[in-house]
Amino acid sequence: MLAVGRPFQFVLVSLGISSMLATLILLCGGFRKDSFEPSALPKVQIFDPKAQSKNSAMDATTVTTTVYIEPTRISYDDQLLLVKETATPSCKENLQPDVNYITGWPQFGWNNQVIGMMNLLYLALIMERVPIIPPFEPFKNSHVDASASVNFSKLFDLPRLKQELGIPILEWWQVKDFEQSSVVDQLGCWSLERGAWHASWVTPQPTHLKLDISYSVAPSWIKRVRENYTDMHSTFWGLAKLGFDDTRPTNLTTIPSPVNQISLIPDDSFLCFDNLYFVCAHEGLEINERAVSPAWRFIGRYMHYTPRMREIADRYIRKTFNIEPSAPSPPYIAVHARRTNYNFANSCGEVDECLPPLSAFVRRVEDIKAELAVKGVEVKNVVMTSDESDSSWWGEVYRLGWTQLDHSGTAQDYGPWYPTFIDSVVLAGGVGLVGTDISTMSFLAKRRVIEWNGGVAKIVLWGHAGADDH
Ligand SMILES: *[C@@H]1O[C@H](CO)[C@@H](O)[C@H](O)[C@H]1NC(C)=O
Ligand SMILES: *[C@@H]1O[C@H](CO)[C@@H](O)[C@H](O)[C@H]1NC(C)=O
Ligand SMILES: *[C@@H]1O[C@H](CO)[C@@H](O)[C@H](O)[C@H]1NC(C)=O
Repeated sequence: MLAVGRPFQFVLVSLGISSMLATLILLCGGFRKDSFEPSALPKVQIFDPKAQSKNSAMDATTVTTTVYIEPTRISYDDQLLLVKETATPSCKENLQPDVNYITGWPQFGWNNQVIGMMNLLYLALIMERVPIIPPFEPFKNSHVDASASVNFSKLFDLPRLKQELGIPILEWWQVKDFEQSSVVDQLGCWSLERGAWHASWVTPQPTHLKLDISYSVAPSWIKRVRENYTDMHSTFWGLAKLGFDDTRPTNLTTIPSPVNQISLIPDDSFLCFDNLYFVCAHEGLEINERAVSPAWRFIGRYMHYTPRMREIADRYIRKTFNIEPSAPSPPYIAVHARRTNYNFANSCGEVDECLPPLSAFVRRVEDIKAELAVKGVEVKNVVMTSDESDSSWWGEVYRLGWTQLDHSGTAQDYGPWYPTFIDSVVLAGGVGLVGTDISTMSFLAKRRVIEWNGGVAKIVLWGHAGADDH
């Protein structure tokens, strides 16, 4: 159900269409500093019967028009954005002098890195810069080995994303041949961690990309709540101000780079940030559950998995539900019970009372079945995904008639991070989803099931006995 699977669908009240369009054209044409003419202007049509039924309850004096912009309006050529046809030993020799770029490091677990990528792409959109996406890298202390680095485009359908967003997007491997090269690039970047939080994590991307980065401390006005070091969120527009001459601060505290001890102020043409996880428009972690979240509305909803990933996930689904080769894949409800990694000590005392019991998930699965039945969809298949390793817990899951994906050969067949990837694609593919509160994996799955499949999703609360009794 991709009813609004297009980059811009504005509901415009009476006039103002032409100024909105002018803004769009500026936005679309602004990625190059000189006049980079889009090959085709936005195509505008008046759309659509659905909008009318929605608006029928509105005040009769309000004139409402939905403007639908064709997603294929500009065909960008990645090559125009780079100097050389193949990746170069140094990133600097491949960057066009007249193009503005932006990059940054997604941090923490894989789903958090996915959110970091959404934030990077949303910043690129509002700053009219060409994003250069780093690979996903296992974070320190992760259960996945460092060699498991994976390109964004291996998992997410990048050609489709570029088309739906109508913006150019590059990946780091296109820019710099960091696997073969021995060149270490000196870069000046902004540190949000040292500025906004007085903290610093060690992100693996700069080492892998062979970058020696000198960080300058970002000013406190980038923050959602200034001078509160517990609240780590920066705002998109606060960060955007660092990319414009008249709002970029000049009195900087710059930290020498770790390898060559070189101090460099942030490069305006090649803007970069140390950590793009904690960024929001107005409310911390709005990406999880708030409908308003721009990172979801403008980026995340268009980040579809590649056909390859969907096909792999489909094989796992067919296997777990024992589907005949000739039969179609069945609709299913997926459950994500996150059981480890929470900071139990801070959340609650007794772990047994704290985590949701299986019965809480059962109740939500039944709720979803009932809601789907009203829509005329009958669903029998339920698959459980969890980081739980206790076999007696799984025994109870099986007794419910639910299944588990067979990951016994996954790491060997695809790579050590693939059990997580495949679980995520399976969660996104259900007509129903039951997740666990405070899990980014659950929250993203919930959004995808609702947005992409028109499905029903519920999040199980936890933290004390009976937390989900509602
Ligand atoms: C990323 O993609 C490029 C081009 O296909 C490939 O050369 C490179 O090995 C990939 N990187 C990883 C980590 O798979
Ligand atoms: C600082 O931010 C944290 C996290 O959002 C919040 O719990 C705390 O109340 C804030 N402190 C102040 C003084 O605003
Ligand atoms: C830079 O100058 C502004 C205005 O004088 C001041 O508020 C800010 O704290 C300074 N920042 C640094 C990093 O010195």
